[in-house]
Amino acid sequence: MPRTTHPAPLLDRFGRVHTDLRVSLTDRCNLRCTYCMPAEGLDWLPKPDLLTDEELMRLVRIATTGLGIRSLRLTGGEPLLRRGLPDLIAGFASLPDAPELSLTTNGIGLARQADALRAAGLHRVNVSLDTLRPERFRALTRRDRLADVLDGLAAAKRAGLDPVKVNAVPVRGVNDDELTELTAWAVEHGYRLRFIESMPLDAQGAWDRERMVTADEILAALGRVFTLEPVARADAGRDANAPAEQWRIAGTDAVVGVIASVTRPFCGGCDRVRLTADGQLRNCLFATEESDLRALLRGGADDEAIESAWRSCIAGKGPGHAINSADFRRPERPMSAIGG
Ligand code: 5AD
Ligand code: SF4
Repeated sequence: MPRTTHPAPLLDRFGRVHTDLRVSLTDRCNLRCTYCMPAEGLDWLPKPDLLTDEELMRLVRIATTGLGIRSLRLTGGEPLLRRGLPDLIAGFASLPDAPELSLTTNGIGLARQADALRAAGLHRVNVSLDTLRPERFRALTRRDRLADVLDGLAAAKRAGLDPVKVNAVPVRGVNDDELTELTAWAVEHGYRLRFIESMPLDAQGAWDRERMVTADEILAALGRVFTLEPVARADAGRDANAPAEQWRIAGTDAVVGVIASVTRPFCGGCDRVRLTADGQLRNCLFATEESDLRALLRGGADDEAIESAWRSCIAGKGPGHAINSADFRRPERPMSAIGG
C-alpha cells in the first residue's frame, strides 16, 4: 500500500536514520543455548508486564505512520511461543504503511506454523542454527530438537518465505570445526547463511573473548575450502544496510555473510531501534537505559506524546557499543530478552 504520510525521519545526533524496528514478543524460549542462558532458564517476565496485541499494534502503527519505520522484525526469546502470532502478523500487514515483516526464530514449531505465517503476510525468516550434528545440538541447546529445526527450515522454504536465512554463532571448542560443513549444507539447501561473532550479552555473564571466533578466523576457515568473492554493498540489494559483510561462493549463486559485531563494529550505519516484550524502547543492543513506552500507553498518552518519547530516545543514542574498550559495561537485559 502507498505511504499515507511522509513523517520526519527518526534521526539521531550522528545523522543516522532509523527505519528498522525489532520487537521482542516474549522473553521465553524453549531452548537453553549455553552461550545465551543458564540450564534452568531465567525469571520470565510476568504476563501482565507484556504488551498486549492491541498495545503492540498501536506502537507499530505509530512507528510506521509517524516515525518512518519501514521494516519490522519480530524476535524473542522465541517468538513462535507467542500465542496468536499469525493474527498479530496479519494485523501488522494490514496497517496503511505496512512495514516489511520478518521473524527471527530458533525454528522449533516453524514446520507447523510456516504456511499460516506466510499467509498472514510474513515475508522472510531467520532461523538460528549452530550445528548439524544431533548430539552437539543437544549439548549446545540442552534440548534434543535438531530434527524440528531442520523440518522448520524446509517448511519455511516450501511456504515461500524468501530469503530463508540461517544464523550461526561459532564458539571455539564447540562448533568451530563445522563452519565449512554448515556452509556446504546451506548452499545445497538454498538457505542464506550468516556467521555471527558472539557478543557479551549472555545472561550468565560468561562471555569470553578467547572463545569468540572472529570474522578473520571464519573467513580463513571458509577460504580453505571455498573461493570467496566479496559482494559490494551496492550489489547487496535490500541487504545493503544490513550488518553482514557478504561473500559469494565462486561457482554458485550462494552468498555467505559474516556479522562481525565485535571485531568490525558497524554502529556508524546503524538504523535499528528495539522494543522489548514489556514495552521498553532501546536505542542500542548495548543501551544501559530504556524508555518506558508501556507506562505512556497505560497512562493514556496520545500518539503525539508517544512519538515524541520515541524521538527523544533516539536523540539520546550514543555513537556505538564499547565492547572493545576498558570501561565497557554490559546491559542489564540479556540478549534473550532483547531479541538480537
Ligand atoms: N552473541 C551473538 N549472537 C547471539 N545470539 C544469541 N546470543 C548471542 C550472543 N551472545 C544469536 C542467536 C540468534 C540471534 C538472535 O542472535 O543465535 O540467531
Ligand atoms: Fe533461545 Fe535464541 Fe537464546 Fe538460543 S539464543 S536460548 S534460541 S533466545
